[in-house]
Parts: sequence; structure tokens; C-alpha cells
Amino acid sequence: MRPQKLKTRIFLDGGDPEETKEIRSSLGFLDGQTTNPTLISKNPEAIKRLERGETFGAEEILEFYRGVVTELCGLIPGGSVSVEVYADVTTEADTMLKQAKDMFSWIANAHVKFPTTREGLKAAGWAVQAGMRVNMTLCFSQEQAAAVYTATRGAKKGQVFVSPFVGRLDDRGENGMDVIANILRMYAQGDGHVEVLTASVRNIEHLLYALKLESDIVTAPFEVLKTWREKGMPLPGETYHYDAEQLKPIPYKEIKLDKKWEDYDIRHELTTKGMERFSEDWKRLVKPAKRKIA
Ligand code: E4P
Repeated sequence: MRPQKLKTRIFLDGGDPEETKEIRSSLGFLDGQTTNPTLISKNPEAIKRLERGETFGAEEILEFYRGVVTELCGLIPGGSVSVEVYADVTTEADTMLKQAKDMFSWIANAHVKFPTTREGLKAAGWAVQAGMRVNMTLCFSQEQAAAVYTATRGAKKGQVFVSPFVGRLDDRGENGMDVIANILRMYAQGDGHVEVLTASVRNIEHLLYALKLESDIVTAPFEVLKTWREKGMPLPGETYHYDAEQLKPIPYKEIKLDKKWEDYDIRHELTTKGMERFSEDWKRLVKPAKRKIA
């Protein structure tokens, strides 16, 4: 059962419908799911296929992805399911938009994920104007979140998510949760059309602090949600303290949400690295299979 005072929506971060079934049944609720190319490459069917030395054809992998998210959508009635476009650093906005149109038609409650880059923001702006729901992924800075806000101005509430990645900032010694706090504070001056989805969650402390900050949504992997369940689905109390002493703080910046999105400095090394990693994982699924020697 959903804890009564829980304000944040809880999503599962994963690509295996069996995990979705288990988490939904053990929590007694689930508000949605996020997927990405890496998570799809870890789907048990995909792993089996790779272990047999087989890969997917270009069309076949999309059919596979579509099958997975269709199953997820059926397991989370009314919940959002995020589906990510394939994008490497050379992918242009119109190519992303073309994929988005297809993916958005796969299921009733899709949010299409675009990278928070210039081409991704351009594509997302067009997608929102065409009535699609979007989730801006690989966000690591307040400036990127400001650009998401102004690139999607005019969108309806619920139509746009921004996904700041906390774990990957922690991995390099920076306090990723500061970015969540900073974006929420910056967005308080806005109209609320972009919802903050805390992503790249690695442990229960990330989850609890996201709840404390009242992030609109938090997406967490199976093991983290399982641990939360085992602990009785606690909510952070008045005195909750997030211990980030080992991590370098990321200070708040006074950023106004009144510029054109193109005028924010949205460059971030981790966004580029993240696109590289996603595209490598995707290519591993579609690269030509090794010929079996008779
Ligand atoms: C979800 O939308 C993100 O793709 C995911 O949380 C990334 O997590 P990772 O940094 O653990 O790969």
C-alpha cells in the first residue's frame, strides 16, 4: 500500500517485466517505470540471445523494445513508461523526432526520453508542440534544467519530466543530490510545467532524500525498492539528515528562467559520456552476430 503521506511518485528503473511484477506486488503500488538502452540490454531475453552468440536486426531490436514496454505498460495501468530514443553525439534532432513519433505510438502512457543536449532539446521542443510527453535525460546541471524549462514552455503539467542523474555525479565525488535540491529551488520561480524525476539512484539514502526534498518523481532500481519495502517503506521524518560529507557540494546558482533555451550553457561532460555508454550498449545488441564456424 502507498504510504499515506508519500507525495513523490515512485517509478521502477529497469527493463525486466518480472521485476516490475514483483515490485508492484510487494509495494502494493507502482506509479511508473523508466527504461534506457543499458537496461534493455540487461533484459533476461536479450542476455540469453547474446549468450547464444546472436544479436538483433535493426528492426527487430525496436520490435523487442516495443514488446518490453508494452508488457510494462500492461503491468502499470495508467502509469508512465519512459522509452529512450537512440542518440549518439552525431544524432540530429529530426532523426530523434522521427524515432520519438514511433515510440510514442507504442503504448498509451509513454514519455519519450531525449538527451539534454542541443539536438535533444530541439527535438523535445518539437515533440511537446506535437502533443507528445517527454523525459529529458542525462541532466547533470541546473543550467541544463533551466534549458529544459524554457525549451518546453507552454507544455501541460505532466507532459515534461527532467531526469537529473545523482549516482553518476556521486561516482566522481560530487554531491548529486545537491542538483535535485537546486533544480527544485530554481523551478519554484516557474509555473510547474516540468516535473523533477530523480534518476541514477543507487541506494536508499538517495531515495529517502528525494522524498524529503519532494522531488515530483523518483525512479529507483529493483534492489533499492526492495530494500525500501523490507524496511517497511519508511518516509523521512522532520529530523532526517542526508549524509554527504564525503562528497563535494554543488552550490545553488541564481538562474532566471527567462532566457531562450539556446542561451543557457548546457554542456556537461557526463552527458556526452552517458550518450556514449548508451549507444555502446545498444550497438552491442545490434552488431552483426559472430558467424558460427561449422
Ligand atoms: C533513468 O531514467 C536513468 O536512465 C537511470 O536512472 C540511470 O541510472 P544509472 O546512472 O545507474 O545508469
